[in-house]
Amino acid sequence: MYSEKVMDHFQNPRNMGEIEDPSGVGTVGNAKCGDIMRMFLKIDENGVIREAKFKTFGCGAAVATSSMATELVKGKTVQEALQVTNRAVMEALDGLPPEKVHCSLLAEEAIHAALWDYAERNGIAIPACNEPGQCS
Ligand code: FES
Repeated sequence: MYSEKVMDHFQNPRNMGEIEDPSGVGTVGNAKCGDIMRMFLKIDENGVIREAKFKTFGCGAAVATSSMATELVKGKTVQEALQVTNRAVMEALDGLPPEKVHCSLLAEEAIHAALWDYAERNGIAIPACNEPGQCS
């Protein structure tokens, strides 16, 4: 049912935990399943994501997608990270069962929420992302 990559990221999640003094934090949840994901980003003065960590209270697919999402955004600029969609996360994990697609959506939303938080803290306008939730 799950790809080897999903199982690997579920059993050995990368970047799990918190970042002290993060540049941006985003917390999102899914009302239906009740799962919650929190994403922490450390972004340098050039707008490059140096560190990404997550805390997820949710299903195995949510843990795996959080883990992969943090791997995908590390080293990217804010603009590049905005392009990391749930589809990209799913592809990197070699797919998810249809009933688990919403878990990957949570990962995309958590990244965007953290980027939004970073933009707000720094008075930066992110094009195509002018209101919370709009950029996801
Ligand atoms: Fe809801 Fe996975 S079942 S995030």
